[in-house]
This record gives sequence, C-alpha cells and structure tokens, in this order.
Amino acid sequence: SRTRLLVITGSLRRASFNRMVAQTLPELVAVDVEIALHATLGDIPLYDQDTFDAGLPDGVARLAEAVFAADGVVIVTPEYNYSVPGALKNALDWLSRLPGKPMGSRPVALQSASMGMLGGVRAQYHLRQVLVALDARVMNLPEVMIGQVQNKVDADAGRLIDGDAREHIRRQLDAFVRFIRR
Ligand code: FNR
Repeated sequence: SRTRLLVITGSLRRASFNRMVAQTLPELVAVDVEIALHATLGDIPLYDQDTFDAGLPDGVARLAEAVFAADGVVIVTPEYNYSVPGALKNALDWLSRLPGKPMGSRPVALQSASMGMLGGVRAQYHLRQVLVALDARVMNLPEVMIGQVQNKVDADAGRLIDGDAREHIRRQLDAFVRFIRR
C-alpha cells in the first residue's frame, strides 16, 4: 500500500532554499510513496489561549488535517540563531494543544539546509527536544543536513541538484518509509 508523507517547511519566504529542498523530495522517493507539500505555515496566527478559545484558525485546521492524513511527516527547516524559526515552533505549539494530538506517535523525519557549513544541525537538535514534548516518533538516523545549500540548488527551477545531497536524502527517505512501516 502507498505511504503518504506530509512535508512541512519552516521557512516562509518564497525563494527559500529549504522550500527548494522540500519541492525536490517527490523526485527522491519510491513510486509507492506519495508526497504532499504543505503550502505554508504563514497562515497560522501566533498562539495564544484567547485565539485558541475563539475557534480554530483555518491555517491550524488545515495543518492538523494534513498531519492526521499523513503516515509520516518530514520537516525541512532553516536554522535561526541556532534554533528553529519561530513560525515552525508556533505551528508545533498549536498542534500540541489540539484534541487527538496530531503529532502524538506520528513518525517524523528531519531535514535542514542552511547557507553555513553546518547545514542547520543545531536547529535539528532543538527541534528533536520540542518533539519529545509532542510525543512524536522521530527517526534518529540517517540525519540530513545540507550546508552551503546556495551552491547545491538550481534556484530558477527551485530544485536541489547536488548529487551527494540528493542521494543522502533518497537514503533517508527510504529508511523513513521502513521506519513508518515497522
Ligand atoms: C539565519 N541564518 C542562519 N544560518 C545558520 O546556519 N545558522 C543560524 O543560526 C542562522 N541564523 C539565522 C537567523 C535568522 C533570523 C535568519 C533570517 C537567518 C541564515 C540562514 O541559513 C539563511 O537565511 C537561509 O537561507 C534560511 O533558509 P531559507 O529561508 O532559505 O530556507
């Protein structure tokens, strides 16, 4: 049967390198894997209890529905000041408060890309810590962090073109599908 992966990116900007990586993932999975790219986290308001009590914002409802429909979630995120972008943390904060706990026991794989050498690895370790609180089922290995990503994309096409990075991701996603199925 088909495995459905939801891809969420932590960057809101149109020309995001992480978005380019996310857009490339359908080229890097087996034929029985279906990928849905979540359009944006930019439609999710800042969490506060009053907003929550006033009724679920559409952006949150859309994200939660997409997470519930997925067999696994792939988070592709930049690193902001050694951590995750606020928009991503905010989205996870919303999900953590929803009935049915969309992220609870949900398989998750992490990827990050940055213009620096380290490829966002520090953000990934913060993200892992946050996902403990959500009781997500995060895959440990293999890790994907793409340093100097600006040299590894075709920016006009919005695609990751570096052969090593693509192969690395292909291997991670293969492992992730096995992780989901076991
Ligand atoms: C950054 N950037 C960055 N890079 C990194 O490797 N480690 C870091 O801690 C930070 N910190 C940081 C903070 C803020 C506020 C911004 C805006 C940027 C640079 C970052 O890697 C670069 O802007 C990427 O291009 C962001 O990813 P997207 O938007 O291209 O996907």
